[in-house]
Amino acid sequence: MTRILIRGGIVVSATGSQPLDVLIDGETIAAVLAPGTSILGTDPATVADQVIDATGKYVIPGGVDAHTHMQMPFGGTEASDTFETGTRAAAFGGTTTIVDFAVQTPGVRVQDAIAAWHDKADGQCAIDYGFHQIIGDVNDESLEGMAELVAEGVTSFKLFMAYPGVFYSDDGKILRAMQTSAELGALLMMHAENGIAIDVLVAQAIQRGETAPYFHGVTRPWQMEEEATHRAIMLAQVTGAPLYVVHVSAKQALEQIAHARGRGQNVFGETCPQYLYLSLEEQLGAPGFEGAKWVCSTPLRARAEGHQDELWRYIRTGDVTSVATDHCPFCMKDQKELGVGDFSKIPNGIGGVEHRMDLMFQGVADGRISLERWVDVCCTTPARMFGMYPRKGVISPGADADVVIYDPNGHTSIGLGKTHHMNMDYSAYEGFEIDGHVDTVLSRGRVIVDDNRYLGSAGHGRFVRRELSQNLI
Ligand code: URP
Ligand code: ZN
Ligand code: ZN
Repeated sequence: MTRILIRGGIVVSATGSQPLDVLIDGETIAAVLAPGTSILGTDPATVADQVIDATGKYVIPGGVDAHTHMQMPFGGTEASDTFETGTRAAAFGGTTTIVDFAVQTPGVRVQDAIAAWHDKADGQCAIDYGFHQIIGDVNDESLEGMAELVAEGVTSFKLFMAYPGVFYSDDGKILRAMQTSAELGALLMMHAENGIAIDVLVAQAIQRGETAPYFHGVTRPWQMEEEATHRAIMLAQVTGAPLYVVHVSAKQALEQIAHARGRGQNVFGETCPQYLYLSLEEQLGAPGFEGAKWVCSTPLRARAEGHQDELWRYIRTGDVTSVATDHCPFCMKDQKELGVGDFSKIPNGIGGVEHRMDLMFQGVADGRISLERWVDVCCTTPARMFGMYPRKGVISPGADADVVIYDPNGHTSIGLGKTHHMNMDYSAYEGFEIDGHVDTVLSRGRVIVDDNRYLGSAGHGRFVRRELSQNLI
């Protein structure tokens, strides 16, 4: 078994930062040592096969992105990253675990749906991966199947208040799924937007000839997100289900989440870098059909409405529990183009699995969040939220040796032909400059990225059988 010593760096955890050396033995962390500590009277470097000099750099747990959609059939096409390309891109960006969404559709058993996702991912991934299960058809059979999935390490389930006719569940179905979740202790994840009302606004806009991508945002106003978030919280309270609201973009929805948390309810909020940096006016409102690049739901919000500052504030207060990407990439050619002349036909989704750690580190560089909060929302709390702690999300003896060496004095230019490894023909963050750089990435003790070179392999990543959430209030 290979022993690696990471020496001279500052180990950053969710609770503090200090100079520490990290000794890795095989796939796990063997010891975290004060600099100069000897092991059995000798310098630990003498027992290591490889010594990595991390002087001047941060040594952090590998990123955990708890919201991705690799090769997901959606919007009349399929998300353009396979498990192979998407997890390799994630590795370049310092993410060492993803939790992807298996999809159950009407007529399909949840057990068969999860088996199909295992088939897609098995032997393909560069990094470790787990699954949530989307329940697109809440019925007696799918509710019974949830218990089986929990026993197999799939301990969270996503429902949709949006997308009528696709994934949508009405309130009765949501209530039933939440009752089952509460019985099992499993986490209920919610796409909270009032899809029925939104579809009326969409049809009316198209009727008026408002067909450009910009109107995707206009027809999904924040009130639709706030209302659905409130309704989901109330249904969760009635049933006792723990609720995790995904991809929150409206400050008013986060206010609902903060309020519920304040009274002690198990409610959690997730946001994504696109809602912290991109906007309705600048991106969705880009000339011609360009705005299609940023069509996703919930939508990018109006900068003028002040959502971004509030989202950053909620990250600081802890009401945003974790930051994920909702990585759901589509190319412009042949995919986003399906919606030329009708924004409602543009496949919904943004790709960003490669850039989350950098974009959130920019929040540290800009003084918006602390170094520790960066690690907390990107690595540690997602691991706890989704039952993977202390195997993932922390640098401590016994944990998987998923480690990122991050250079705060480095620089990353985001864009096609620069740092882009996702299978997309554009970058949602083209031109972004980051005051930091992912130098080295280890997944279970193996260096898989070093100095912008990929050293990993498809199939190294293993399925993570998750426990129930370890982050309930
Ligand atoms: O636009 C989005 N978010 N696409 C991915 C599917 C979802 O709703 O998470
Ligand atoms: Zn969603
Ligand atoms: Zn999603």
